[in-house]
Amino acid sequence: MKSSRIVLLAAAVVLSAPVIAFAQSKAPAKSPQVKRGEYLVNAVGCHDCHTPMKMGANGPEPDMTRMLSGHPQGMQVPPAPASSGPWVVHAAPLTAWSGPWGMSYSANLTPDPETGVLRDFTEQQFIQAIRTGKHQGQGRPILPPMPWPAFKNMTDGDLKAIFAYLRQIPPVKNKVPDPVMAAH
Ligand code: HEC
Repeated sequence: MKSSRIVLLAAAVVLSAPVIAFAQSKAPAKSPQVKRGEYLVNAVGCHDCHTPMKMGANGPEPDMTRMLSGHPQGMQVPPAPASSGPWVVHAAPLTAWSGPWGMSYSANLTPDPETGVLRDFTEQQFIQAIRTGKHQGQGRPILPPMPWPAFKNMTDGDLKAIFAYLRQIPPVKNKVPDPVMAAH
């Protein structure tokens, strides 16, 4: 009885080995740094704003076929309703935002060579952008609600891991509209 179980177990291991090898050969192994970045992106909530929503059985849910590709280029957003009372910020499916700063659109974080916001970023510029709140670490202010004032508290190692992860996710071609700054 005992030995037949061992034989069965051994057979299962031998049979499953080629299946495992096949599965591994399809997706390249992720480095520990990329895995850490994936964990942080999922835990911190980058998808909330950077992954477009689709309608699911229980309401809007992230459309992972367009993972982290930002505000959909074909989605025209009319001007937000006038703010009144305590209403100061309006969001259209969490990728288009209107507030006292003007209008901002969640950026395309995928490595698409034409439309990905990070296409010209070095790792150092990514860290600088998050630390300073300036586009690419040196340009215009990064507008709300991008929570860089919170993310700037991450360690260099964590920010490098996020950058490494974003570099190898599937590229999605999606040109996000430019922000519209409010006239003050
Ligand atoms: C609450 C919504 C929100 C969340 C959460 C969020 N972002 Fe953003 N993010 C935005 C918006 C909106 C913009 C566009 C701002 C602009 O155009 O100035 C943006 C822009 C960016 C940019 C472009 C910076 C630049 O230099 O132009 C990067 C990079 C970025 N986000 C990365 C991330 C990462 C990584 C996470 C998770 C760790 C994250 N964001 C979470 C809303 C968000």
